[in-house]
Amino acid sequence: MASQGLPANDLRSGIGERMGAATVWALPARWYADPDIYQTERRTIFSRHWLWIGREADVAEPGQYITAAPAEFPVFVRRSEDGALHGFHNVCRHRASKLLTEPSGQCRTIECPYHGWRYRSDGALDHVPLFGEAPDFPKDELSLFSISVDVWRGQVFVCLDPEAPSLIDWLGPIEDAVERTAPARPEFGRHLEFIVDCNWKTYVDNYQEGYHIPPLHPGLNRDLDWKRYRVINFEGGSLHDGPAKGVSNHPGAFGWRFPTFAFNSYPDGLSFMRMEPVGPRRTRLVYDYWRPDSVSMEDFEATLEYGVQVSKEDQWITPIIQENLEAGVYEAGPLSPLHENGVFYFHEMVREAVGSAA
Ligand code: FES
Ligand SMILES: [Fe+2]
Repeated sequence: MASQGLPANDLRSGIGERMGAATVWALPARWYADPDIYQTERRTIFSRHWLWIGREADVAEPGQYITAAPAEFPVFVRRSEDGALHGFHNVCRHRASKLLTEPSGQCRTIECPYHGWRYRSDGALDHVPLFGEAPDFPKDELSLFSISVDVWRGQVFVCLDPEAPSLIDWLGPIEDAVERTAPARPEFGRHLEFIVDCNWKTYVDNYQEGYHIPPLHPGLNRDLDWKRYRVINFEGGSLHDGPAKGVSNHPGAFGWRFPTFAFNSYPDGLSFMRMEPVGPRRTRLVYDYWRPDSVSMEDFEATLEYGVQVSKEDQWITPIIQENLEAGVYEAGPLSPLHENGVFYFHEMVREAVGSAA
C-alpha cells in the first residue's frame, strides 16, 4: 500500500517520498503534555515565527493599543503619535508588572500601574517617579523589550525574533492564495474564541488532515468530495484542497502556516483562525470572520453556524485524544501516506525545532 495512489501533495521535497518509502510515525505521546517540551516549544517555535494577534482597526488611532499573549508571551502593539505601530513585550523593566492590562484601549503615555514608571512610544524609559538617588542607574538600558510588528490584510502580526524573515516572506504562497480568492473589501463580521482542553499540537494535527471528515463531520461530509481532499505542503505550511461535491473547480483556498495560523478564503467569505497554546494542556481557538457586501447578514450567519458546528465537532474529539495521549498506554501511531502528509510535515517541523534545543 506504500506509494500507490499517492497524491502530488508535496511542494516541499521529501515528505511525500518518505511516506511512500516507509511507514512514518506521529510524534511521541509524551510531547503532548510534557511541561519541558512546552517550554522548549515556546523558545524554539513561538519565539521565532510570526503570530497573528488582532485587527489593525483596533489600533487605527494614535495611542490605541491591543494586548495579547501568544503562547503565554504577554505583548502589546500600540500606534504612536507619528502613526507608526510599535510592539513590545508587555512587561515593565522595574519589577515585571504588565503595563497595559486591558485587551484593547487608548493611552496617551505608557505608564506602569504598579509604581508609575513611564515609557515613551518608542519604548524608552522616560520617567521614574520618586525612586531616590541610585548611583549608575542605567536609565538608557531600561527600555521596553521591543518585538517586530507588521500588518497583512488588516491583521496585526507580531514576531518576537528580530532576525525573522518579513511577514510576507513568512506567509509565502498564502498571500497569493488569498489574493486570488478573497472578496475585495470584506467588512469585519464576528470574533469568536473557544478554550479547548488539549495541547496545541493535538488541535493542529486535527486541522492538518481530512481523513477524519466522514466519521466526525457528517454534515461537512455531505458537501465535500472527501476522496479528493488533498493537503499540499509548502515551505512552512500547507494549502488544503477540499472540493465541494459535483464541482470540478472550486474557487476557494484554505490552509495553515506553522505554527498556529490558519485561513479560509472564498469569494463570499474570509476567515482567519489561530490555535494558541495556553499551557501544555490547553488551547485557545480564535476566529475572525469577514463578510463581503454581496453576502446578506442572514447568509453570513448561516455560514458561520455551519463553520462553528464543524469546529464544535473538532472541539469534542480533541480533548478525548488528549486524555489518551496522557494515559501512558499509547506511544505513537502510523500516519497515512494518502491523508496525513500534512500531519507528518507538521511533526517534522516540531521535531526539528525541539531537536535543535537538545
Ligand atoms: S513594576 Fe512597573 S513601575 Fe514597578
Ligand atoms: Fe475537523
